[in-house]
Amino acid sequence: MGSKEVTPGSKTGFSTIAPTTSIFDPVLCELAYRWFCPKGGTVLDPFAGGSVRGVIAAACGLQYVGVDLRSEQVEANRRQWEELGRHWPETPPPVWHCSDSRLIPGICHDLQADLVFSCPPYADLEVYSDNPQDLSTLDYPAFRAAYREIIAHCAARLKPDRFACFVVGDVRDSKGFYQNFPADTIAAFQDVGCVLYNEAVLLTQAGTVAMTAGIPFSGYRKLGKTHQNVLVFYKGNPKNIKEVFGEVEIALPPEEAGNAATDN
Ligand SMILES: C[S@@+](CC[C@H](N)C(=O)[O-])C[C@H]1O[C@@H](n2cnc3c(N)ncnc32)[C@H](O)[C@@H]1O
Repeated sequence: MGSKEVTPGSKTGFSTIAPTTSIFDPVLCELAYRWFCPKGGTVLDPFAGGSVRGVIAAACGLQYVGVDLRSEQVEANRRQWEELGRHWPETPPPVWHCSDSRLIPGICHDLQADLVFSCPPYADLEVYSDNPQDLSTLDYPAFRAAYREIIAHCAARLKPDRFACFVVGDVRDSKGFYQNFPADTIAAFQDVGCVLYNEAVLLTQAGTVAMTAGIPFSGYRKLGKTHQNVLVFYKGNPKNIKEVFGEVEIALPPEEAGNAATDN
């Protein structure tokens, strides 16, 4: 029950094993860290994927702890940090654990996170491996159950008066209906005490949709999607946000900083 027979390169319903994972948006990543993580804080990421979130955390002076199931991905991230880490000698290096995130209670047992930040598999939109522990290989009910368990483990390690932020996108089932994955993400967090506090959209390349939306729309009136959902949750009393997070520092590029100085 739950997992589908997946052989590398085979067509699994409407996705194949992703040759490489999609690259996470570094600008969105930096904004999430600057807006929703206290200075010098610790970030917990249960679906680490590529190195972007770890490297940007270091660039922002944060301790990053990521977990990913795929050893080749974790090794690649560590190699990238070896190349890039010299740019941030002062910052604690990002840590990537190669494990099933359902084991977070064991591998991160005394971790106290200041931000839970991640981009989970969007069900089986991209299948990352044929490992049966890989959430992207599971049918939706099994995917949702494992996903909720991992969110619960992360929320339990999130300090009070802190944020969690997940970037998700809805995914269609074999009949073409949306699974309502963003709503399942909201329910999973709210059921463990992290209440929806902000929701935004990340606009993605419109160009590619123009190339792919033709037949699905003309044939089946399926709209193409040019956004992903950025869901921000808060665990605690929002009245404490100002005290815990203080002012948002706006780092202007030098040429603009000059203008801003003269304007004042
Ligand atoms: C959406 S991807 C991340 C790629 C992405 N766009 C990113 O942010 O770089 C999700 C990741 O979850 C990992 N994953 C799947 N099942 C997992 C599990 N049970 N425990 C930990 N990581 C898992 C996959 O290996 C994949 O790298």
